[in-house]
This record gives sequence, C-alpha cells and structure tokens, in this order.
Amino acid sequence: MIVLGIETSCDETAAAIVAATRQGPRILSNQLRAQFAEHAPFGGVVPEIAARAHLDHLDTLIGRTLAEANVTLAEIDGVAATVGPGLIGGLIVGTMMAKGIAWGAGKPFIAVNHLEGHALTSRLTNGVDFPYLLLLVSGGHCQLLLCAGVGRYTCLGTTLDDSAGETFDKTAKLIGLGYPGGPAIERTANEGNAYRFVLPRPLKGRPGCDFSFSGLKTAVRRLIADGGGLDFGDTADLAASVQLAICDALIDRTANAVDWFRRHHPEGTTLVAAGGVAANEQLRRRLAALADGAGLRFVAPPPALCTDNAAMIAWVGIERLLLGLVNHLDAALHPRWPLNIGAPQRPGAEVTWSRE
Ligand SMILES: Nc1ncnc2c1ncn2[C@@H]1O[C@H](COP(=O)(O)OP(=O)(O)OP(=O)(O)O)[C@@H](O)[C@H]1O
Ligand SMILES: [Mg+2]
Repeated sequence: MIVLGIETSCDETAAAIVAATRQGPRILSNQLRAQFAEHAPFGGVVPEIAARAHLDHLDTLIGRTLAEANVTLAEIDGVAATVGPGLIGGLIVGTMMAKGIAWGAGKPFIAVNHLEGHALTSRLTNGVDFPYLLLLVSGGHCQLLLCAGVGRYTCLGTTLDDSAGETFDKTAKLIGLGYPGGPAIERTANEGNAYRFVLPRPLKGRPGCDFSFSGLKTAVRRLIADGGGLDFGDTADLAASVQLAICDALIDRTANAVDWFRRHHPEGTTLVAAGGVAANEQLRRRLAALADGAGLRFVAPPPALCTDNAAMIAWVGIERLLLGLVNHLDAALHPRWPLNIGAPQRPGAEVTWSRE
C-alpha cells in the first residue's frame, strides 16, 4: 500500500510518499520546504504569508516527491492531507490540492488530524504497539495521552495556558534568540550554566498531569527587565536555565502519567514522545531515564520526524486506509480539532474527532 501525504497546517510545506511493505513501513520520499525566511522579519508565523508560500511551492514539491519515490499517481492507493488543526489558509491550499489529485487519479481521500500524525509517528518509525503513553509536545499542544488505537485517544492532561513549544519560542524571543526558539535555546544552552537563574516550575509536585508555563515566561520577562539587558554569558545561562525549567516541568508531569499508565494498563510497554519539542536532546535523555526507571521502553522518532513533516500524514493515511476509514471529497476543514474524543470544544471548533 502506497500513500501520498500532504502537510500545510502551519509554516512547513511538505509532501511525502510512504509505503507499507511486508518488511514494514518505508518512507519512499519525504520533502519539506520551511518558511523561516518569509516569517523571520515578523518574529513568528504570519498566516497570510504562510498560505501564499504553500500555494507557490506545493505543486513543485509534490512533483519532486513522486519523482524521488519513483511512483506515478496511478500507483498510489490514496491521498492523505492534514485538514486540521492549523491555520485555515494553509489547510485550504493543502486539502484542495489533495482532493483534486484524489479526484483526478480516482483514489480515496483521507482527511488527517495533524495531531494524529504526531501521535502515530512512532508506529511508523519503531512499530510501537497500542496501548502506549504519549507525551505530545509541539508548538500548539502540550498533552499527555493514552493511545489505545487509531482514532482512540484519551487525554490525561493538557496545558492550562501555553504549550512547551510556545514557551521555548516566546522566551527565545525575549532573550533575543530568534525563531524558532526551541532549537535556538538548545544550541545556546550548551554554553550556559543551567543553575545560575532560578525559574519557576509551575505545578511541579502537584497531583495530575496538567501543565502550565505562563509563570515561567513571565519570570524570564521580569528577569530581563530587572537586569537591564543581557550580555552573552547571561544569554547562554538564561537559555540553559529556561531549558532545564521546561524539562523539569515536563518530566514531573509525565512521571504522574507513567504511574497512572502502569496501574491502569499493565499490558502497555512504551512511553512515546512526539511533536517538535521531542527533538530536544535533554528532554529525550530524561524521558528515557524516567521510562527505564518504570520498566518501560522509551521511543521518540528521529528529530526530523518530530517536527512537522508529511511522512507522518501519509502514515496516518495508511493506518486509516487499512481500517477502511476514508473520507468524502466534501470533508470539512477543522482549524481547531482536539485529538481526544469528547474533549471540551474551544470557541470556533466545528466538530470533535470521531472514528465515524
Ligand atoms: N530541539 C528543540 N528543542 C526544543 N523545542 C524544539 C526543538 N525543535 C523544535 N522545537 C519546538 O517545536 C515546535 C514546533 O513543533 P511542531 O512543528 O510539532 O509544532 P506545530 O506543528 O507548530 O504545532 P502543532 O503540532 O501543535 O500544531 C516549536 O515551538 C519549536 O520551538
Ligand atoms: Mg506539528
């Protein structure tokens, strides 16, 4: 089975072709064009610029993907595209392209939740079996989820304010490290003393699996304002202190989820991390130690498959096609779309996730 995946929900234009073979899944091509240069002058993603950049580059990227994979549209079994959550302009560009290709080539269309892409990547890369415990840490989300099957997710905890990725991005901006902040903080932190600045770890030590990061961001803003600016040594020390505080908070909350998972799902063997922040080396190392201490295996996709990509969307297409879960060509877009069934709707949400 071969599926073309298309991802345009934020600031990466991506197309990929993934095959399910007897030897296991194979990524035949995984193309990505980031838009850092377009958005850098604004210090963050500008939705209108993102949509226009997707429009300018998506067709070329899909052509390159098909050529690299050496397959024709006639040889693929389905076209999968992210229909949410994300920025509406980009979602329109990618979904319309995918539906057009599916219709023209006479192939099924699979409407994909971007978060399910992150959630299932470890099955593509490491063949992880359900059920598993997932720490989903990306730019827009920070959640602990029980993954019981395709389309079957239970949220154990979520952030009360910012996501971990947003916290990296916003504090990097305050420190003057540019966008995207996660990789910039990680690089700069290597030179710094993580124990120089004392920063809060919100909710640390409390029961439950929720997160909170806004206090940490405010503490960094105050520190910089009170200190009257930063020199290079300060910058590296502050980056290291921020990274340590974010990782401490994530590990503390994940430890509670691991306890819950072991009690309620003794058959489960794996702790998984996914989303852009899961590319962070310190976080990966500490999650591996946490899992080890609890007798679990730890799996995180390679860093390039933690951040946004289309291989994960093509993979969800394969998982869903194998279960007969395809969509009509009039499938709607969902700019806000929680992964877990029955989650409270945020304003603007159109529908909740459902297997039907
Ligand atoms: N090495 C790293 N360390 C820490 N954070 C990182 C690292 N690499 C990327 N990030 C962060 O990951 C985030 C991007 O992740 P991702 O592409 O999964 O998010 P998104 O697609 O924007 O959000 P969502 O998936 O929730 O819609 C950014 O906030 C970025 O700063
Ligand atoms: Mg993402």
